[in-house]
Amino acid sequence: MQMMNVAVKQGKGEGEVAEVLVVGHFEDDASLKGDAATVDKALGGALRAFLSCKEFEGKNQQIVVLHTQGEIPAKRVLLVGLGKKQDARLDTIRQAMGCVAKRVRQIGAASLVTPVLGQGIPRTTPLELAQAMTEGALLGLYQFNEYRTDQNGAGKSLSRMTLIEPHTERVAKLREGVRRGRAGAEAASFVRDLCNHPSNVMTPSRVAAEARAIGKERGVKVKILEQKKVEQLGMGAFLGVARGSHEPPKFIILEYRGGGRGSNGKAGKPIVLVGKTITFDTGGISLKPAENMEQMKADMTGGAEVLATVRASARLQLPLHVIGILPATENMPGGRAIKPGDILKTLSGKTVEVQNTDAEGRLILADGLAYASRLKPAAVVDIATLTGACAVALGQFAIGMFGNQDGLKAQIREAGNRAGERVWEMPLWDDYFEQLKSDVADMRNIGGRGGGMITAALFLSKFVGAGVPWVHLDIASTDWSERERAYIPKGPTGIGTRLLLQFLIDQAKLPN
Ligand code: BES
Ligand code: MN
Ligand code: ZN
Repeated sequence: MQMMNVAVKQGKGEGEVAEVLVVGHFEDDASLKGDAATVDKALGGALRAFLSCKEFEGKNQQIVVLHTQGEIPAKRVLLVGLGKKQDARLDTIRQAMGCVAKRVRQIGAASLVTPVLGQGIPRTTPLELAQAMTEGALLGLYQFNEYRTDQNGAGKSLSRMTLIEPHTERVAKLREGVRRGRAGAEAASFVRDLCNHPSNVMTPSRVAAEARAIGKERGVKVKILEQKKVEQLGMGAFLGVARGSHEPPKFIILEYRGGGRGSNGKAGKPIVLVGKTITFDTGGISLKPAENMEQMKADMTGGAEVLATVRASARLQLPLHVIGILPATENMPGGRAIKPGDILKTLSGKTVEVQNTDAEGRLILADGLAYASRLKPAAVVDIATLTGACAVALGQFAIGMFGNQDGLKAQIREAGNRAGERVWEMPLWDDYFEQLKSDVADMRNIGGRGGGMITAALFLSKFVGAGVPWVHLDIASTDWSERERAYIPKGPTGIGTRLLLQFLIDQAKLPN
C-alpha cells in the first residue's frame, strides 16, 4: 500500500486551497486560539457556534467537520479536540492526527492541510510535534488488505497531507520532523505487515529474505547463518527449539555502519538489537490451548522490530554502528521436538533443563544474547513477546523493562515516553533465581508460580556477558491490540519499533 505523502509549506492555513483544513482546540481554553480563531472569524463565527452550544467541547479526539461555502479557499474545516492542556503530551497529538486522518479518508477527501497542532504543550519542540503528527496520521491510515479479494472502500484514499507554517525559519525543522515521523511510521507499518502475514507465509526463510532485501540499503550488510553453521557454533538452545519444525531455522545478522559525526559512528562499538523471532508458537510438546492460538503468528514481533529499526537507521543514515540479531524458527511439536526434561547446551556453555517447551523465547534469546555479547557491544537491547505474565501484570499500555545499567534504562525510558510507547521497570533481583534452579542442569527454563515476567528476564540475564550494558523489553500484549485505537489498528500494533528508533536517533545526538 502506498503511504500518504506528507509535505511542509510556508503559508497561512486560512489562505490555503484545500479539501480539508484542520484546526485544533484545547478543552480548557475559554475561546478558540490561533488558527482556529482566525478561521472562525473568516467563517463568521461558525466554529464558535459549536462551542457555545456544547456540540463540541474540545475533548480528546472529538471531531466536527463543516463546509465553508466558499468563505475561505478550503472546502471544509475540521475542528479536532486536544483535551485539557495540562494532560496533553506528544502522544495526544499523535492520537488526534490518527483520528483526523481516518475521518478525512472516510469523508472521501484526498488531501488535508493542517497547522502544527499542540503548540504550547510543555517540553515539546515544533520538530517533535511535526514528527508526532506525521506518525499519527500515517499509522492511523494503516490497513492490511493483502489477502482480501473483496477490497471494499478501494478507491477512497487520502494521499496528501500538508503542514502549513507561517514562520519561514521554522520550515526546515518541521521538514526534519516529518522525515523522522515518516521513518518511524514506515518502520512500524513494516512490522505490522510482517506480523499480519500468516505463519505459512512468514516462515523463518521468508524473514531471512526480508532481511536480505534490507541488505540493499546503504551501509547495511546481512548474513544468514544456516542450520549447519549454527550447529558448529554450538547454539544448542536455539536449535533445540527448532527441532520440532520442518521449516529450516535461520540465525539472521544485519549490520549497519553509518558514517562520521555521532558518538559511535563507523568504527565505534555497536549497539546490538536482539529480537525474538518465533514465526509461530504452538507451545511445542507443551502445547498451547486452541483459543487465540492464531495470535502466535505475531510471536516474531521482536525480530520484525529489529529488522525495521535497522532499515530505518539506514534510511535516515544515522551516524551509528548498529547490529540486529534475529534467531528465527517455529516452535512446533513433532517427532523430533524437544520434550520436557530434555537438557540443552547453550552457546554460552551453560546447560538448561527444558521443563516447558512453551518457554521457548528465552531459549532462542539465550543464544542470541550470548552471540551479541561477543560483539564487544556498547549496549545490547533485546525485545520479545516473551511472557503471558507480562500481559497479566502490565496489560495493554506498558512494556515491561529490565536492565543492568541505570543510564541505559533511563535512555530507553525517555525514548519510550517520547515515542508514546512507554516502558515500566520491573526488578531484576537475583533473589528470584532460586525459582530457576534445576536438579540436573545449571538452570531450568521456567520459574514456577509467581513473577513469571521476572524469572524470564532473570533467565536471559544469565546469558549476557559480564560488563555488557543490557536492557530487556517484554512486549507480550502490547504487540497485539484487541480493539482499534486512534492510530493503532486491531491486531499487530508494531509497538516497540518507534521506541527503538527514537533511542537510536537520541544516541546519534540529532538536534530536536
Ligand atoms: N509467546 C509466548 C508469550 C505470549 C503469550 C506472548 C501471550 C503474547 C501473548 C511465550 O513463548 C510463552 O508461551 N510463554 C509462556 C511461558 C511459560 C510456559 C513459563 C507463558 O507466558 O505462558
Ligand atoms: Mn511459548
Ligand atoms: Zn513464544
